[in-house]
Amino acid sequence: MENHFPEKAPKILKEKPFWWKEEVVYQIYPKSFYDSNNDGIGDINGITQKLPYLQELGITMLWICPIFTSPMVDNGYDISDYKGIQPEFGSMGDFDELLSEAKKSGIKIILDLVVNHTSDKHVWFQSALNDSKSNYRNYYIFKEGNNENPPNNWRSIFGGSVWEKVPNEENMYYFHTFDKKQPDLNWENPVLRQEIYDMVNWWLEKGISGFRIDSITFIKKDQDYTDVIPDGADGLASVKHKGRNRPGIKDFLSELNRETFQKYECVSVGEAPGVTYEEYDQYIGNNGYFNMIFDFHYADIDVESGSEWFRRTNWQIKELKNQIFKSQEAIQKNGWGANFLENHDQPRSITKYIKDEKYQNEIGAKALGTLFFFLRGTPFIYQGQELGMKNFKRGTIADFNDVSSIDNYQRSMLEGYTSQEALEFVNQRSRDNSRTPFQWNSSETAGFSESTVPWLKLVGDHTTVNARVQLEKEDSVLCYYKKMIQLRNKSKYRETLIYGEFVPMNTTDHIIAYERIGRETIQVIINLSNQASLIEGLSGEILLNNYSEITYEKNGLTLQPYQALVLRKEENNG
Ligand code: NOJ
Repeated sequence: MENHFPEKAPKILKEKPFWWKEEVVYQIYPKSFYDSNNDGIGDINGITQKLPYLQELGITMLWICPIFTSPMVDNGYDISDYKGIQPEFGSMGDFDELLSEAKKSGIKIILDLVVNHTSDKHVWFQSALNDSKSNYRNYYIFKEGNNENPPNNWRSIFGGSVWEKVPNEENMYYFHTFDKKQPDLNWENPVLRQEIYDMVNWWLEKGISGFRIDSITFIKKDQDYTDVIPDGADGLASVKHKGRNRPGIKDFLSELNRETFQKYECVSVGEAPGVTYEEYDQYIGNNGYFNMIFDFHYADIDVESGSEWFRRTNWQIKELKNQIFKSQEAIQKNGWGANFLENHDQPRSITKYIKDEKYQNEIGAKALGTLFFFLRGTPFIYQGQELGMKNFKRGTIADFNDVSSIDNYQRSMLEGYTSQEALEFVNQRSRDNSRTPFQWNSSETAGFSESTVPWLKLVGDHTTVNARVQLEKEDSVLCYYKKMIQLRNKSKYRETLIYGEFVPMNTTDHIIAYERIGRETIQVIINLSNQASLIEGLSGEILLNNYSEITYEKNGLTLQPYQALVLRKEENNG
């Protein structure tokens, strides 16, 4: 690569290169991606069949949400056999084939590691539950109640107490951070920890490229298990106070890393809610527990707490900007980040972040895509995001499948909201919003399945928002994502866009802009408002533009509503 700015070169060289920094990851929610056998449920063969699509998009790695044996209470985040494949998704043979076909297409695969809890149908838990003398009892957390009441007043993430009464035993309870059918594993028990490490290594030996590690900050609980001052009308207090990222977790996470990930050429991506920026060094620093973690600060900007959707905020673009910058600076100071706009737990981004409904369209989708994709870190694209898929609007709670939507609906009403208001919160935030079937084409079932009844209702806009139409339309969201991936990974600006320094730009409140400085300076500028805005001093080669035109002024550029630009800054321009 030609070096125009030798004085800036050391900035890139400061960054240690690693293969996982260069990936573009695509997240698959298997139940909703592609149904190859027409039972209304997506499956592993469906992913294999769609590899050409993924290859054309340009992504290099897949994160596949849980495919393991499960009663599917939380769609696979309740595992009953870590080494088995859920039959509705296929067989181990199907998975092996996917792994080898993906490899041939140059696509790596990481899986979801869910080890804070299992399903209540796991043989370990069944033995623990049914036999108080079982060795497996110590694999989980069992405690005696408090005068006919649960052992303490902690609230689970999905609502209600974290404690569930053990049937046929007096005054005995087991602990669950999430649903009662997801009992927590007891990480205090070294025998259990070893079982987990063996299982992780078994999968890594199979040739997967690593793991996304689910809810990992919940594995350590304060061992006093004492009450906390209630923080809701139900008299309970969130499990987060004493059961998330607590002192002592360090030992578990270092051991997990040492006994598993460190032994392999693999990547570890932690889902680590509750970690403060001051702790980033421990999590993603040189000797961090993970290669990268997701930061949820701005993903949850519309709600005070990620798990209680009735606590809505009136967030402003300026705050979004500050949070993104703060997050990027903390990550840059300490290590590497996993950047995302959407995932299977979040509503669709255009509905969440584009305040003017008129722009909840292709323009808005591309603007948001630009904003997140060029941040410093590995980009994670969630299925359907590359089409600009949106939230749906459902008229009754019976239309929802997601366990946390149903809990949140009930909790909202407990807090005094009407059923209509509760339904509105759920519509805005439901995890089902991002779990609707992927829209492949404009047929009745959006090409997801030949079955007329997919497991979850379609959004309803697939006649226009679908992969087939967008592949052929040069200015579609999908083609824009292809261009972004190409620019980051295949163009002459690759080194700067992957390894370049992140520097925030100072602009008016509703414009979010930053530079990536490496061999050259690339500027990323997004107008997140419905007002046109002049930005002085901008000039250079336009590498990407979500509008077909650009308005040059004598002293800069005017950005149209929700216009996004990627610009190679002119050499003599400051
Ligand atoms: C986080 C996962 O992303 C979510 O889907 C799941 O419900 C919880 N962890 C529990 O595993």
